[in-house]
Amino acid sequence: MTPDFSQGPDALVRLLESKGVLIDPAWRDAFVNVPRHRFVPDVIWPRDTHDPAWRVPVTSDSDEWCSWVYDDYALITQVDDGTPEGLDGRGRYPTSSASQPSLVALMLQALRVRGGERVLEVGTATGFNCALLCHRLGADRVTSIEIDSSLAEQGRANLAALGYRPHLVVGDGAKGVPERAPFDRVLATVAAREVPWAWVEQTRPGGTVVAPWATTYFAAGLVRLDVREGAAHGRFIGAAAFMLLRDQRAAKGSIWDFVDEKSAGVESYRGRFDPSPLSADIAGLDLAVGVLVPGLAYRRFNAKDGSGEASVYAYDRAGSWGLIEYEPNANEYEAYRFGPRDLWAEVHHACAWWERAGRPGRERFGLTVNPDGQTVWLDSPGRPVGS
Ligand SMILES: C[S@@+](CC[C@H](N)C(=O)[O-])C[C@H]1O[C@@H](n2cnc3c(N)ncnc32)[C@H](O)[C@@H]1O
Repeated sequence: MTPDFSQGPDALVRLLESKGVLIDPAWRDAFVNVPRHRFVPDVIWPRDTHDPAWRVPVTSDSDEWCSWVYDDYALITQVDDGTPEGLDGRGRYPTSSASQPSLVALMLQALRVRGGERVLEVGTATGFNCALLCHRLGADRVTSIEIDSSLAEQGRANLAALGYRPHLVVGDGAKGVPERAPFDRVLATVAAREVPWAWVEQTRPGGTVVAPWATTYFAAGLVRLDVREGAAHGRFIGAAAFMLLRDQRAAKGSIWDFVDEKSAGVESYRGRFDPSPLSADIAGLDLAVGVLVPGLAYRRFNAKDGSGEASVYAYDRAGSWGLIEYEPNANEYEAYRFGPRDLWAEVHHACAWWERAGRPGRERFGLTVNPDGQTVWLDSPGRPVGS
């Protein structure tokens, strides 16, 4: 039996309103009128509950698929760049998704459009977000770019089936779409470690760039930049975990591809640094550590005996790692390091800077982007993180 999704958009709107995330009536109208189920492909890949390292295909004839479409979940719509690495269509790495509706709402509202703006969306994927933009602003004002040609084609077909014909481009969105610039708004639906200068350059002064922003350690910032002549500045305005721009992805692999405790040259020492704050999800500390320890990845393995002991690893996927054998209430722990960087010393330094700065939360951090690159700052552009 074909599922009845006729009440889906209204139910989704009620859910988003009950969470307090959908506030603007004009975007509410867009959510009511753009049916999400028409954009979710027949196969999606939730996490395998038995082995979280993998994702399993779930098809549109299942109850799960139907129940998830109008719930507030990100749905993974492609794994491993379209060629699943596992058996039976199982995938390892999510490479495209229909974003979580509450995040879609948050980001669209963060654009602060009034109507009439020309918008560039980076990461067309299913086309759902693009359809919302078309509904709100008119398709002739919307440009969207997707790097993966098969996804771009699906997105185009989904949009066209509902009568939306925005300007769609297949290509590298990190370069923007210069032939359609200037834009009033750029909305990235894919995360950047380095915000491409092209996004700022192609936005007219007075315009806005909204983008998910990540470091290798901290994966979930959302930044809004006000574009001025020659630079853009803005604060972190929330959390948004997104997949990364294709060229900015971290090297693939598990921790054990980068940490070999049997390597010749591993140094042992007695460490004093307590790594516990890194497991506490402290907003602000995570950003400072991510900025001040470039390339950092982190894993903690808690002892199963309830002792509170843990093996805590910092590694950079480029030949350096550190291990702390943490013991609660001990002044010193056994520790090991390997490679040119002393990563735990760098983490210690970053934590100490954050403490001295008064333990700032994420909302006190901001980002400046200019043609030379980007700087993360605290409170104002003149105070780079770490200074
Ligand atoms: C989270 S999905 C976007 C969700 C989408 N806006 C929607 O409503 O369904 C991110 C998309 O960005 C695309 N992407 C990754 N790197 C890109 C790049 N450099 N340029 C354009 N698209 C890119 C991915 O292929 C993926 O489809």
